[in-house]
Amino acid sequence: MQTSMKITRKENYEPKELNLHETLFCSANGYIGIRGTLEEGVPEHFPTMRGQYLAGAYEIIPMKQAESLCNLVEKKQTMLNICDTQTIRLTVNGQEIDPFSCKVTDAERVLDMGEGYTERLTHYSLSSGGQLAVRIRRMAHFAIKELFTIEYEIEAIDFTGEAVFDSWHTPEVANYSDPDDPRLADESPCYLTRQELAYKGSMSYSVTKTKESGVVIAAATEHIIAADDKAESMIREEGGSLITRIRIPLRKGRKVTLLKYAAFSDSIREKEPRQKVTGLLSRVTVISIKQLYDEQKAYLSKFWERSRMSIDGDKELEDAVCFNMYQLLCAAPRDPHSGMAAKGLSGEGYEGHFFWDTEMYVVPFFILTDPALAKNILAYRYSTLPAARENAALVGHKKGALYPWRTITGVECSGYFPSGTAAYHINGAISYAVISYHQATGDDEFLLTMGLEMLIETARLWLDTGVYDRKGRFNIFEVTGPDEYTCMVNNNYYTNASAAYNLRCAADLYEKYRDRTEVIKLTKDLGITDLEIDAMKKAADAMYLPYDEDYGINPQDDAFLDKPVWDLASTPKEDFPLLLHYHPLHLYRYQVCKQADTVLAHFLFPDLASRETMEKSFRYYEKITTHDSSLSTCVFSMTASMLGLHDEALSYFGDSAKLDLLNRHENTKDGVHTANMGGCYMAIVNGFAGLRIRKDGLHISPFLPKGLRSYSFPFSYMGRKLKLSVDEDKAVMELTEGEGCAFKFFDKEEMIGKEKPWTHGL
Ligand code: BGC
Repeated sequence: MQTSMKITRKENYEPKELNLHETLFCSANGYIGIRGTLEEGVPEHFPTMRGQYLAGAYEIIPMKQAESLCNLVEKKQTMLNICDTQTIRLTVNGQEIDPFSCKVTDAERVLDMGEGYTERLTHYSLSSGGQLAVRIRRMAHFAIKELFTIEYEIEAIDFTGEAVFDSWHTPEVANYSDPDDPRLADESPCYLTRQELAYKGSMSYSVTKTKESGVVIAAATEHIIAADDKAESMIREEGGSLITRIRIPLRKGRKVTLLKYAAFSDSIREKEPRQKVTGLLSRVTVISIKQLYDEQKAYLSKFWERSRMSIDGDKELEDAVCFNMYQLLCAAPRDPHSGMAAKGLSGEGYEGHFFWDTEMYVVPFFILTDPALAKNILAYRYSTLPAARENAALVGHKKGALYPWRTITGVECSGYFPSGTAAYHINGAISYAVISYHQATGDDEFLLTMGLEMLIETARLWLDTGVYDRKGRFNIFEVTGPDEYTCMVNNNYYTNASAAYNLRCAADLYEKYRDRTEVIKLTKDLGITDLEIDAMKKAADAMYLPYDEDYGINPQDDAFLDKPVWDLASTPKEDFPLLLHYHPLHLYRYQVCKQADTVLAHFLFPDLASRETMEKSFRYYEKITTHDSSLSTCVFSMTASMLGLHDEALSYFGDSAKLDLLNRHENTKDGVHTANMGGCYMAIVNGFAGLRIRKDGLHISPFLPKGLRSYSFPFSYMGRKLKLSVDEDKAVMELTEGEGCAFKFFDKEEMIGKEKPWTHGL
């Protein structure tokens, strides 16, 4: 690691900022996510999302439809807020220590992305006049995914006395809700019922279960004190919680440290979750915390070796980009039992649902930095293919699979189908990710055992949906594209372009591998015929892609350009995001976009339109896009880069890179925006560096944005490791592991070998 990688913030205990910090200083490792709430809690009237989550752990709850139209979804899944093990209250010489009743002289929060922990550093001036320093370090362990630790260190700087810690283990907690925000749940019951709450020696444990999904969650906590003096410890039960009370003398200038270990497990992954957590804690608590920290650092040093982005000329920007990458690592599932939520494991926004965000915006990051994690995400989608087939049938399809717009286990959880189930482009995102993963890794085993089946089933859905018109064009009617301010349209350019790609690749890959044993079996199992494969090719070739002669652009859909243009200039600032202030129907009747739609299609499928059409389209959509969705500015940046609009590329990128750190959408309190975080990475790698991996191999077409001195990043390609560095004068590629290979620099064929770096002037 070249430089320290830290995000540091002063703490002023304003409710709004505390809420934001709960997200920014969340501890997560792809399995557990613990929001950065204050151990001691906040005053009653403060809004707080005191949350602990496990990837894929959910409850099923009713979703009453106002009118019971045929086959509308009447139940949804929601992520669980599980057992609270982060509450620790401290009393020093009889005074309760918290920033709301004590005088704080200095307070800071730190996220150390090289070491993998968050820290709260607080200095108190006590009513007795004494100075107390408190350092609380939290870690969700990357290597032992069930483990979360809190190291609570206090130092009586200039006094002696006694400290009392009350450390809580509360199994039944409520989910968060906000009835005024459609992006959050509107009810907040406690979904977990206690089955067991007990302790053995100094270890507390609990088992809880949901009513409908039957998911069992087990948690265990254990405490160790490091101090000069002996501590007294006892456990009591109070109001449904187990509280470990530890009394310890305080000596002037000496430190006392409480180590709290918590472990979590669930019945989705384990047969005996309780045995798993108690066994794990018995083993882990005999290891020194230093060793656990060392393992964490070692894990991260490998991660950064594979992915570290250097941006010379703007350290703050570099930190922001690394923060985004770090959060993606914290959010990505480590096994195929779960997909990745739009907010990762950092909050309850969108109720922990998985959307197209993952495949379109996050998988590209993992394909280039940790292909095994990308494969996990796709393997999860494969495991939900049967549910996607059922979903397609529910909507009326005779064949194929329709992935749900939002889900946890694979069933549709969207209650509003116009901007939910109708967003068929989720199939496009998943198939695009499968193809990209295969093109970048050459992982035939994945393709043959999972990917191809997904491609065939998603392609079948397009065949079943589309119709040929009198001119012989293949049309896709009544779908919603990425832009959710325009719903239920005919021939959404983006959807049609994705469908054509899905259809063509499914047919091509099927034909390429048709003699392989797995494909022979698949052919039989799915009843694939040559006629069907030909139909896929024919539909792809005949796919209708709207083009408007007058404007010289690709309209977002058939009717889009006939609608009046929304007057964005006269829309009051407080009316954004528009979705919170205007009825959906009103929005649908105007040319106004929530997010990149055709502009994303141009980036993904540049061969479908001329450069001129893409630039004119970019200029057109730029004027009518609000970027109310966080999935937007990063795409405008990438497309601008591709079109050589370098100033625009940089300015859109700037909006995307610090979106969460600066709370630009004012809802980071509900969780980070993982799609934007992945999109920010793509804006540099695919945008500035023009790195694309296509059927014909690796391409780069880099430029250095104004204001930067250089940037560089490592990446994986077909099992080898490479590093690309770009400065004002040149691009340099190094092969750090694996065999040499050919690639394209703009349109020129080049070779990179082991002997020496490849260099080219810019
Ligand atoms: C966006 C969708 C996105 C969802 C979850 C919505 O605001 O319009 O494209 O999938 O958020 O991030």
